[in-house]
Amino acid sequence: MRVGILTSGGDCQGLNAAIRAVGKALYEKFEDDVAIFGIRDGYRGLMEGDYWEMSPRDFSGILTLGGTILGTSRQPFKEIRGPEGSQSEKVEQMKKNYKKLRLDCIVILGGNGTHKTANLLSGEGLNVITLPKTIDNDLWNTEMTFGFSSAVEIASMVIDSIHSTATSHGRVFIVELMGHKVGWLTLHAGIAGGADAILLPEIPYNIDSICRALQQRKRSGKQFSILAVAEGAISDKEAALSKKELKAQRAKMTEPSLSYRLAKEISERTGNEVRVTIPGHFQRGGSPCPYDRVLATRLGTAAAQMIQDRHFGCMMALQNQKIVPVPLGEVAGKLKAVPLDCEMIQSARDIGISFGD
Ligand code: F6P
Repeated sequence: MRVGILTSGGDCQGLNAAIRAVGKALYEKFEDDVAIFGIRDGYRGLMEGDYWEMSPRDFSGILTLGGTILGTSRQPFKEIRGPEGSQSEKVEQMKKNYKKLRLDCIVILGGNGTHKTANLLSGEGLNVITLPKTIDNDLWNTEMTFGFSSAVEIASMVIDSIHSTATSHGRVFIVELMGHKVGWLTLHAGIAGGADAILLPEIPYNIDSICRALQQRKRSGKQFSILAVAEGAISDKEAALSKKELKAQRAKMTEPSLSYRLAKEISERTGNEVRVTIPGHFQRGGSPCPYDRVLATRLGTAAAQMIQDRHFGCMMALQNQKIVPVPLGEVAGKLKAVPLDCEMIQSARDIGISFGD
């Protein structure tokens, strides 16, 4: 059995735990009858034939290690696929190297963009199994991705810490969190960290509603407020624009990010002193939390089982607390946004958290 393994897209906590699980489980199942090839920097390594044959040693001592021992890179799907109808050189290169290595299967660890390419390669006849990783938790058909819980811990810790300085100075703080186009990370961290307002891409905010909520808190004797703001949050005015108009408007924005614009607007309208904190890639760094270590291990060992069963063309997913295979075609290109009728949103509203709507 000859298996390739690669990690693609933004890194996150738990990648090494998953790589370890795949490797260890394959050695347990096939003993000396398996060769595992580590492909460097995601699809770049597959295109360029940059790989090495791994040994059992490579899979030891990495459970708690952040990042990925394989390296990763972003290879936008648009550039991989090439113009519609044409045969992309990059896809041909990947197929060529897969054949050259005489692989029986390739295990791909990635998020949304990665899954589009994985699905394409599967359609081209490669045996592909994927594992869902991302701090955004935005992959369709899985309740959870590894990396997410670790990022929630870090983001919540940031909001926790901001409380003391916000209280001392009686300031409004905006904590801008990652999550790309969805609000899972901000929703979880906002609730866990006790934010007073949570702004998500799924719920366009109204600046006057936010200011009213902040003034209301002040009137009730609370001198400080904390807003957890998703990097993809959007105002109601922006939500009314077309995609093209929004892009043009954001391009004109002079502030480094939405949070700074928001800070200016709040300060002008309410007279409050407003500060912005952006933990950024800190949210993706460091050791995976225990939940992610367990999830990554379960997904990785399930992938090894699929390889033994020769069940390919699927992503291992968490559904109803069980790890199950789902066809790649049902995952690729679909975004799992926070549903508006989500119980968590209602629960947050019930304790007075504003969503700015
Ligand atoms: O997809 C994971 C993620 O961390 C997003 O939350 C964020 O928008 C993006 O990656 C940042 O990308 P990069 O690491 O390329 O700056």
